Amino acid sequence: MCGIVGYVGGRNAVPVLLEGLSRLEYRGYDSAGVAVLTSAGTQVFRKVGRVRDLEAALPRRLTGKTGIGHTRWATHGPATEANAHPQTSEDGRITVVHNGIIDNAAALRDRLAAQGVSFTSETDTEIIAHLIARSAAPTLEAAVLEALSKINGTYAILVMDTGHPDRLVAARNGSPLILGIGDREMFLASDLSALVRHTTSVVHLDDGELATVTASQFRTFSREEDDTGKSPTSIDLDVLDADTDGHQHYMHKEILEQPSSIERMLRGRLDDRFGTARLDGLNLGPRELRGFRRVKILGCGSAYYVGQMGAAMIEELARIPADAEAASEFRYRNPIIEPDTLYVAVSQSGETADTAFAVREVKRKGGQVIGLVNVVGSTIARESDGGVYLHAGPEIAVASTKALTHMAIGFAMLALTLGRVRDLSIADGQRIIAGLRSLPAQIEEIISNEDAILKVAHNLAESPSLFFIGRVRAFPVAREGAQKFKEVSYRHAEAYQASELKHGPLALICADLPTVAILPDDELTDRNLAAVQQILARSGPVVIVTHQSVDTGEMTGAQVITVPRNERELDPILLTVPLQLLAYHAALALGHDIDKPRNLAKSVTVE
Ligand code: AGP
Repeated sequence: MCGIVGYVGGRNAVPVLLEGLSRLEYRGYDSAGVAVLTSAGTQVFRKVGRVRDLEAALPRRLTGKTGIGHTRWATHGPATEANAHPQTSEDGRITVVHNGIIDNAAALRDRLAAQGVSFTSETDTEIIAHLIARSAAPTLEAAVLEALSKINGTYAILVMDTGHPDRLVAARNGSPLILGIGDREMFLASDLSALVRHTTSVVHLDDGELATVTASQFRTFSREEDDTGKSPTSIDLDVLDADTDGHQHYMHKEILEQPSSIERMLRGRLDDRFGTARLDGLNLGPRELRGFRRVKILGCGSAYYVGQMGAAMIEELARIPADAEAASEFRYRNPIIEPDTLYVAVSQSGETADTAFAVREVKRKGGQVIGLVNVVGSTIARESDGGVYLHAGPEIAVASTKALTHMAIGFAMLALTLGRVRDLSIADGQRIIAGLRSLPAQIEEIISNEDAILKVAHNLAESPSLFFIGRVRAFPVAREGAQKFKEVSYRHAEAYQASELKHGPLALICADLPTVAILPDDELTDRNLAAVQQILARSGPVVIVTHQSVDTGEMTGAQVITVPRNERELDPILLTVPLQLLAYHAALALGHDIDKPRNLAKSVTVE
């Protein structure tokens, strides 16, 4: 998804902007551009393709001490050089980069065209540049405010003005924007990862907030032009983590580092004596925790599927009704917000627009929201009333793996906490704690079987279409397995409840359509084995992902991947790991750009 960088200071802005843009590449984009204030005025360069293509196209001697850059993920108009950012006003005075979507772009465009403005792109961003340039307001800040007052939609923008070469004006509404404070230099970015090389002192702009930034100072203010007086906070980011560390892809690195990242996540959070979890960030005492009568989990894509795993854990351990819903749908159905429901927003990036808007909808109606978030200081983390940080470390591959495992563990700890203030016994609490502690070694064991999983993945990669099946606890595992497989292999992969097969999908079963069956050793094992028999009887190839204790002897022709047994409530976590490796190795065999799958973005900051 779109990324923004900006620089004002004593250095040449060009390498700083390019380095920042390359750090934003993981978010997904289709074109990139920079604009630099030079002695000859603003110079803008845009290119379809990668940041390295943009870099190759820049004149060697391009220098300037103020500049802005952008990676674009097409929304208004296709990925062309003309539609890439930065966008400029007709007179070349105002240059803008923008993340987000202007909802009333068509009406504003018609109005400006009627006033004689000729457009050079199909973007909504160009409208912002024209509106600012045509304002008669006395200052750049006032002109930006006037332009923004005409705009409906979401944005994070940086504005550069040849008339004020010493500054950038920034504004945020619904899309993240962060200011990094350096030593007589300032950085702006839509994502912390573009700042960490330069500074750990940052200011997060809030929605409705603007900033004027020069090399030596900044001022934050509201739309009413009142000072908001923000002061910098420190971030603690391990830059070195964001490296492939000898792996061919980030996705592989991130799958393999799960044992160590989980150990780190659990450290200090499990209370053996009382059989519960210590989640101080929730900001909820036992009495408040007891008061909740329902739990509603909100997330998108894979985070939503893990939310379904979490809902099952909460119902089983705390015996409170819990369900998960796609955050992207939730806020559009005028949801009923209940005071005794605990709302849980789950997100790796903490910037997913659909989830952030759902959080705001809940809060607007007086609901209580906690966040299960990986990126510290992100929008959802800051806007939630409390939460649990996932501590998975930076996740760069677009296809999420370790962050999802951490989310599932976060839900297990939340379920434990909610359960222990209710009817969950201390012994059961200790049983879950022991299970959580076993996860790192058990995941290590699954990973040690990578070669066998790789062979299965190569077979699956040959089929244009696959089913993933599971039921009850294993159904979200099947959904996530199908999601991961389609994201990186581009194969059609669809998840069904095993129980639903005979109600329709069985019609598709044939020798060309393999099924991956998630088959834990639980109360449904026999029924699941019967479903597998039905598929085999119709010549459907089957891969069974199961526990060693399940007797698959009669499943002639099926390939079997086993995982170690944990507590039944935690088994979905382990069953997910081989599916990550299946997806990775299928995509590798097919020669795809695994870390940046086509059409996808790491953090989806537009609706
Ligand atoms: C996961 O592999 C996907 N790329 C995607 O579904 C992702 O989980 C979703 O967009 C939510 O992202 P978030 O966790 O950053 O909110």
